Amino acid sequence: MSTTVHEASWRGVESRERKAATPPGPRGTPLIGVLKPFSDNPLDFVTQTARRWEGGVIRLPFGPVTQYFITDPALIEEVLLTRSGSFIKDEMTRKLSTALGQGLLTTEGEAWKRSRKLVAPKLRKKQIEAYADAMVRHTEAAVGKWETGEVRDIHEEMMHLTLEIVAETLFGASVGDGAHKVGQCLESMMEVFVAEERTLLRFVPDWIPTPSRVKARKGIGDLDAVLFGMIEARRQGAPGDDLLWLLLTAEDDEGGRMSDLQLRDEAVTLFLAGHETTALALSFALTLIAEHSAFERRLTDEIDAVLGDRPATADDFMRLPLTTAAVKEAMRLYPPAWAIGREAIEEVEIGGYTIPKGGQVFMSQWVTHRDPRWFKDPERFDPERWMVEDPDRPRFAYFPFGGGPRVCVGNHFAMMEMVLVLATLYQRARVRRTSWEKLEISPAVTLRPTGPINMRIERIDKA
Ligand code: HEM
Repeated sequence: MSTTVHEASWRGVESRERKAATPPGPRGTPLIGVLKPFSDNPLDFVTQTARRWEGGVIRLPFGPVTQYFITDPALIEEVLLTRSGSFIKDEMTRKLSTALGQGLLTTEGEAWKRSRKLVAPKLRKKQIEAYADAMVRHTEAAVGKWETGEVRDIHEEMMHLTLEIVAETLFGASVGDGAHKVGQCLESMMEVFVAEERTLLRFVPDWIPTPSRVKARKGIGDLDAVLFGMIEARRQGAPGDDLLWLLLTAEDDEGGRMSDLQLRDEAVTLFLAGHETTALALSFALTLIAEHSAFERRLTDEIDAVLGDRPATADDFMRLPLTTAAVKEAMRLYPPAWAIGREAIEEVEIGGYTIPKGGQVFMSQWVTHRDPRWFKDPERFDPERWMVEDPDRPRFAYFPFGGGPRVCVGNHFAMMEMVLVLATLYQRARVRRTSWEKLEISPAVTLRPTGPINMRIERIDKA
């Protein structure tokens, strides 16, 4: 069927004929569609579905909602980049605005443009070089507390570390303890959010106060108290170069400033988007490297040769290609953002199929990054594959940071941070898995480990 549709569009036949094409896909069970197999094991379900149904667009009935799953990188590029004007963020992302308000991740249109224009310059390549020192200093302090022989939850360690880095670089050192309170509130709110998304409760209208929503509202109250306090403290503090100060003092064309509510929404968005994903990618990278001792040796040789005992700087980022490759490969196998969603704002044709206005569309990094058509031996951790360009690989076969106008605004920040954190950590320590069991992961809003990632610390004490 898909071939016929593609052929039809190639031959340029009447668009009326093409519009009749509905993407193929499983029907699932009456009323609930594919909700059950998806909820039972989302990653397996999306992977098997993508392999089973060809054509690049798959229709999936999730109870009353139909989702369109885009699996072909060329079509992913259309949705995210070339035809991005036909889409906004999907329903699920919009739900995040209960906690994130109208910040950069969740807004659309003029409000999004305004806030992207304010935030992006602070995260450009040139600007983030100024943050390298804080990234290295916080890593040195964290690893400095580790003792040989002790077991630590590496995911928790990385969550603390990346939160501290974001707090200092983007919000100024004055944020202090508040950052950890924000981290805790966000953590518990995300748990509530995910618990509901996995069940039929996601179809209950938003205004009905389910127990998890009542809990989430309490969490948001706690979060707001910390954030408004933080904003007020920053306002009273000395002028600085941090993003929060910039947002506080930014004026629009009429000379107006952001309200406290707008400031709160931008701050909470950057706290969440700016630390959790990076912490996950680092945790996955450390786990994979620990499982591949030959690669670990090559990696630490590179770090030794480039840095010796001196602290890493922004310039070293470009001098550590194998460390960068390890980060890329970890995000290929374990993409922290494992799926991206969009909603069509008009009827749109993708790959010869019609997506109706209001249609919910999603693309999955988890699936595309493990597709054997684009990555040889896709299940294997092989950072070396990033040391040479593969001219045959489509651009959107690998998209850990998304793409198009809504591409991750913090992607350069994140890449530099991850490489500098790994280099600084391996100058001082090795981490060893305490169990060889397969890492259990769960696809919540982000791809997360289901429990602690316990690692035994081995300090490298250089004479
Ligand atoms: C490994 C780390 C990271 C990963 C994998 C990641 C992934 C992503 C992805 C996939 C998107 C696009 C979502 C979509 O199109 O719907 C995104 C957007 C975003 N990210 Fe990141 N991110 C990371 C780090 C960061 C950092 C460090 C920051 C801030 C300092 C950040 C801030 C944001 C913001 C504000 C957006 C929304 C941008 C917009 O819509 O204009 N992210 N991120």
